[in-house]
Amino acid sequence: MNPIASPGPSASDAVDTASAAHLPPEAPICLIGMMGSGKSTVGRRIAALLGRRFVDADRELEARCGVPIATIFELEGEEGFRRRETQVIEDLSGRAGIVLATGGGAVTIARNRELLRGRCFTIYLQAGVAELWHRLRNDRVRPLLRTADPRARIAELVAARDPLYRETAHRTVQTGRHPVERTALDVVAVLPPSLQPASSAS
Ligand code: S3P
Repeated sequence: MNPIASPGPSASDAVDTASAAHLPPEAPICLIGMMGSGKSTVGRRIAALLGRRFVDADRELEARCGVPIATIFELEGEEGFRRRETQVIEDLSGRAGIVLATGGGAVTIARNRELLRGRCFTIYLQAGVAELWHRLRNDRVRPLLRTADPRARIAELVAARDPLYRETAHRTVQTGRHPVERTALDVVAVLPPSLQPASSAS
């Protein structure tokens, strides 16, 4: 029997003003980018800086399903995982006032790209393969890195996904080896005035 619970409801660098102009001030601020790019750590810090709630789509999915992501991959394959991930993104992208971190592969699904670009102000946290490998080299959790050559896998995923991240995001922020605080401030700096914290909006 499949022990995974059904996920019911629960708890370019130029500013693309044309496509972000419709967003209300409470629109979710969403971080996309490869695994290891720092979406969750940076997202938590941005949420604190802006007085918003931080939500991690992967953790939300695990909470709804009652099993770790690796188990969902084992039982239902990547396809099953992606179906569940889209349900979670449908829900979270409609939540006001949050900072949302999505899983690295969310942009591979057209519906997710549409939701993240249409309902959220979305920022691509961009990091190079060497940096990602440095951060992920001891990872034993992520199913997509369980291969003979995880570094090559990261390079393949970056090549395939970089255009999708750029197509989905309103802005791109380089993470490099910057400290979390610096990246978080870089993200806040590229937010449109309507999403800036009240004290810095002019
Ligand atoms: C994935 C990234 C993971 C998680 C799943 C698949 C991917 O999220 O959603 O293992 O396809 O890159 P993080 O980016 O938070 O590691």
